[in-house]
Amino acid sequence: MAGFIQELLEKRAGEQFPLHEAHLNTQMVRVLRTIGFERNYVEAREQYLFDAAGDRYLDLLAGFGAFAVGRNHPKVVAALREVLDADLPSLVQMDVSLLSGLLAEEVLATTPGLDKVFFANSGAEAVEAALKFARYATRRSGVVYCDRGYHGLTFGALSANGDDIFQDGFGPLLPGFARVPFNDLEALERALAGRDVAAFVVEPIQGHGVFMPDADYLPEAARLCRKYGTLFIADEIQTGLGRTGKMWAVEHWGVEPDMITMAKALSGGFVPVGAVALRKDAFDAVFSNMVRAPVHGSTFAKNNLAMAAGLATLRVLREEDLVGNAARLGESILQRFRDMATEFEFLHEVRGKGMMQALVFGPPKSTKLKISWKLLEAAQPGLYCQMITIPLFKKHRILSQTAGHGINVVKFLPPLTLTESDADWLLGSVREVVADTHRGTGAVWDLGKTLAGHALKIRGGRS
Ligand SMILES: Cc1ncc(COP(=O)(O)O)c(C=O)c1O
Repeated sequence: MAGFIQELLEKRAGEQFPLHEAHLNTQMVRVLRTIGFERNYVEAREQYLFDAAGDRYLDLLAGFGAFAVGRNHPKVVAALREVLDADLPSLVQMDVSLLSGLLAEEVLATTPGLDKVFFANSGAEAVEAALKFARYATRRSGVVYCDRGYHGLTFGALSANGDDIFQDGFGPLLPGFARVPFNDLEALERALAGRDVAAFVVEPIQGHGVFMPDADYLPEAARLCRKYGTLFIADEIQTGLGRTGKMWAVEHWGVEPDMITMAKALSGGFVPVGAVALRKDAFDAVFSNMVRAPVHGSTFAKNNLAMAAGLATLRVLREEDLVGNAARLGESILQRFRDMATEFEFLHEVRGKGMMQALVFGPPKSTKLKISWKLLEAAQPGLYCQMITIPLFKKHRILSQTAGHGINVVKFLPPLTLTESDADWLLGSVREVVADTHRGTGAVWDLGKTLAGHALKIRGGRS
C-alpha cells in the first residue's frame, strides 16, 4: 500500500505551480513560465531528471552543486535508511555523537594543516561560523571579501557578498566589511595593511561568473594574510569535495588556508549540512573553557542523518573515483569547448576547472550580428545567455544556468558522475544552439526579441 506522501504526490500531482504562486515565491513561478521551464519532475537518478511525460533531462545544475555524487545515490540512500531503521538517538545535545566524530575525522583526513571541524546546517551558516571564529580568534573586526564573491545570504555572509543586487535594500549590513577586486593583490595588501582585518574570505574559483584566479593570486593572498595576521578563509562550498578535479580547489595552487568552508555536496544532496575545517588555535580560542563550550552552535548541526549522509558521500567519492572523473572528463569537456570557441564569434572564452565550467559570450565581429547583440544588451545585459540556456533546456533537455546577473556567461555544474555519452550530449547540443544564434534570424532570435520585450517591460516598471 502506498504511504501518505506517495498518495499526496499522486493525488496533487501538477499542483506545485499554483501552490507556489499562492503561498511561496510567485515571481519564481513567473520566471519558470516565462522561460518555459515548467516541468513536472517525478524521478531523479544520477545526473538525470525524469518528468511525468517520460522525458529524461541532463541535470547540469545539480541542485547548485549539491548532487556531486549524482541524485539519489543508492549508497547514500542506504546509509540514511540504516540510520532511520536503527532508531538512533539523534540530537541528545548533552552528549557527543559518534557519527559526527567519525565524519570530522574523515573530513580532516582530506584537509592537511587543519585540525578541527565545526558542523552547521548550510553553506551560509558555515560562513557565519568562520567569520565569527576569525573575529574572536584575532580580536579584530575587519573582513575583506572580493568583488563578485558569493558566500550565502544570511547577514554575515551577505555583508561579504560582492554583488550589489543581493545587498541592496537589506542594509545596514555588518560594519567592518571591505570589498576588494578579485585578482588584485595590491588592493588586498592595502586592505590588510592596517592589521585590523580578522579574515579574508574568498572562493578559489568564483561561482558567480566562474572567474579564475591568476596563477599567483591565492598563494600570494595567503602569504599576505600571514604577513598581516589575517586568517585566510577558502570558501569551498561550491568548489570543494572534488568538483574542480581535486578534493579542494586550493590544492591546484598549493595553498593551505586557515579555514575551509564546505556544504552542498557533503551530504550527497539529501540533508542540509555545512562545515568549517580550521586550525586548532582558532577553534580553541573560541571554545576556550567549559563555560564557553556552547558559545556557537545550532540545534540541528551534527544531526545523525546529515552525518551519515556525509560519511557515505565521502566513501562514494573515493570508491567511484569521482574526483578523478571530474579531473579527466571535466578537462576533456573544457578542451572540446575551447576548440569550439575558434568556430563561433559569439563564444569568446571557456573558463573553469573539472566539473565547473563556463562559456563566456561576447559581441560578434560581423555587422549584422553586432546590431542584434547590441539590441539585446540594451534591453538587458546578459540576455544572449538565455538564448543558449532556454533552447538547451527546451530542445535538448539540458538543465543549466546563467552564471550571474548582467553577464553573458553560461555555467555548467554537472554531477561528478557525468559520463562520456553525457559529454557528447552536452557538446553536440551546445554546438547546435550556439550555431543557431549565429544565423541571426529564426526561432532563437524570435525568442531573443520576446526576452528583450519582457526585460524592457520590467525596466519600465510595467511587470
Ligand atoms: C561559494 C559559496 N558559498 C556559500 C554559499 C551559500 O550556501 P547555502 O546556499 O547552502 O547557504 C554558496 C551557495 O551557492 C556558495 O556557492
